[in-house]
Amino acid sequence: MSDKKVIFSGIQPSGELMLGSYFGAIKNWVELSGMYDCYFCIVDMHAITVRQDPAELRRRTLEQLAQYIACGLDPEACALFVQSHAPQHAELAWVLGCYTMFGELQRMTQFKEKSSKNTENINSGLFTYPVLMAADILAYQADLVPVGDDQKQHLELTRDIAQRFNGIYGDVFTVPEPYIPKTGARIMSLCDPSSKMSKSDGTSGASVYLMDTPEAIMRAFKRAVTDSGSEVRYDLAEKPGVSNLMQIYSAATGMDLSAIEARFSGRGYGYFKSAVGEAVAETLRPIRERAADLMKNKDYLAGIYKKGARRASETSGRTLRGVYEKLGFVEK
Ligand code: TRP
Repeated sequence: MSDKKVIFSGIQPSGELMLGSYFGAIKNWVELSGMYDCYFCIVDMHAITVRQDPAELRRRTLEQLAQYIACGLDPEACALFVQSHAPQHAELAWVLGCYTMFGELQRMTQFKEKSSKNTENINSGLFTYPVLMAADILAYQADLVPVGDDQKQHLELTRDIAQRFNGIYGDVFTVPEPYIPKTGARIMSLCDPSSKMSKSDGTSGASVYLMDTPEAIMRAFKRAVTDSGSEVRYDLAEKPGVSNLMQIYSAATGMDLSAIEARFSGRGYGYFKSAVGEAVAETLRPIRERAADLMKNKDYLAGIYKKGARRASETSGRTLRGVYEKLGFVEK
């Protein structure tokens, strides 16, 4: 075992990866991966809390692995794996469910939101989803969990479950801290800057996907909504559309907001939108090309996810054995 601190994070293969998944998540993972012992998961078991088309789910799971690698995650340095390949997640989730209160799950805002949107399929997996997420994290004794704002509450619950369990059985679990990146975490829809860019926006041009061609990217940015006036200035209240584009440009180029204001001063929105489109297209081009190449080599990808699963199962198996022993389960 290494003495590096542990990071766990995951993304659901419930839709195509978007610009925000790169700037808000995977890019940070790449930066963190040198310093930590990392587990980056494709959480397919979470994805089935809403109906998935089996062939699509299978394709997206593989493509997501290809994209992780194409974004710069080194499969030698981190464990890249598929959640359902490490059965310890589901096993530990059962145990943790017995230490999670019904009322706690009822308070989860994401459950309330999802169940109000999806009234014909409010299944119990959707309800216990945060318990599986807690199992993902606690199985690896993760110190740090990079998550978006929307997952903060689930991480708080994970900490509560860990502390409750530790209170009864001694120090079994590391209590994880959230890692919430300062910038790039929230990329808003190009059509409606008041809502987050989302996988469910379909092909409306509101979202940009990692596998989009440069032409599609340029088109989306040229059509992005802007605000009244004509100045490129960061002002979330008055200019939410332009401010979102500035955030995206900043994430793509590394320029800070005041430098962007200076560069585009007097240029107008049309010019700026094309520049953002070009910067994003150039950022994504090598990622898309590499991921597409990797998708042609399924054996290579299988080698990576199998190795990842072995590494993941070794760590999570150790945790699970410790938990079973504490609980009083007879050793097999
Ligand atoms: N629930 C997370 C999301 O939708 C995905 C996820 C599942 C996750 N398990 C995790 C994130 C563990 C971090 C750690 O974004």
